Amino acid sequence: MSLRINQTVPDFEAETTEGPIRFHDWIGDDWAILFSHPKDFTPVCTTEFGAVAQLDAEWKKRGVKVIGVSVDDAESHRAWRSDIETYGGASVGFPLIADESLEVSKLYDMLPADAYLPDERTPNDTATVRAVYIIGPDKTLKLSMTYPMNVGRNFAEILRAVDALQKASKHGVATPANWETGRDVVIPATVSDEDAKAKFGEFTTHFPYLRMTKDPV
Ligand code: BEZ
Repeated sequence: MSLRINQTVPDFEAETTEGPIRFHDWIGDDWAILFSHPKDFTPVCTTEFGAVAQLDAEWKKRGVKVIGVSVDDAESHRAWRSDIETYGGASVGFPLIADESLEVSKLYDMLPADAYLPDERTPNDTATVRAVYIIGPDKTLKLSMTYPMNVGRNFAEILRAVDALQKASKHGVATPANWETGRDVVIPATVSDEDAKAKFGEFTTHFPYLRMTKDPV
């Protein structure tokens, strides 16, 4: 069964390109993004990992650790890393999990419906989908998204989602469609007009259930 928002994400031990980790300990008090990819040395995945590497300063600014995972082994990940760095023009400063046993892929339900799992499987038989799990410092799942093998992810959207999640968590607000930092936010319906005035100052009432206020900093 797929993971649900607000549930504590599964903990696991795994080998990575940076050595062994226990996932919850590795997250520590930070935010984390676990993202899977179908296979090392493949075209779309190389562009995606290059994009994640280029955003290194943006992840750090938000206190987010990123970690990749596929069913390839650590040696393969390390060999592929130099292609990513050449293509992306940025060093890969995050670890990649070697999930040859499929433990993580199964725990997080990352395999597509038609995954083929024969005894003599190769990573090609068990390619994971392109899953993304944004996890809070409390180790609960805040957001997930799943893309098929043939559609590369938009990491600008993932950064935007992190901004929205962190805004909501810090200020108790919600964010409207296409929100970006600096734009007005939504006051939740659970907050009375009186409390909204005390907490946010001025706000605009479009409908009694849709009130917007300046982006709190
Ligand atoms: C890719 O382009 O990333 C890809 C292609 C085939 C299988 C898995 C991944």
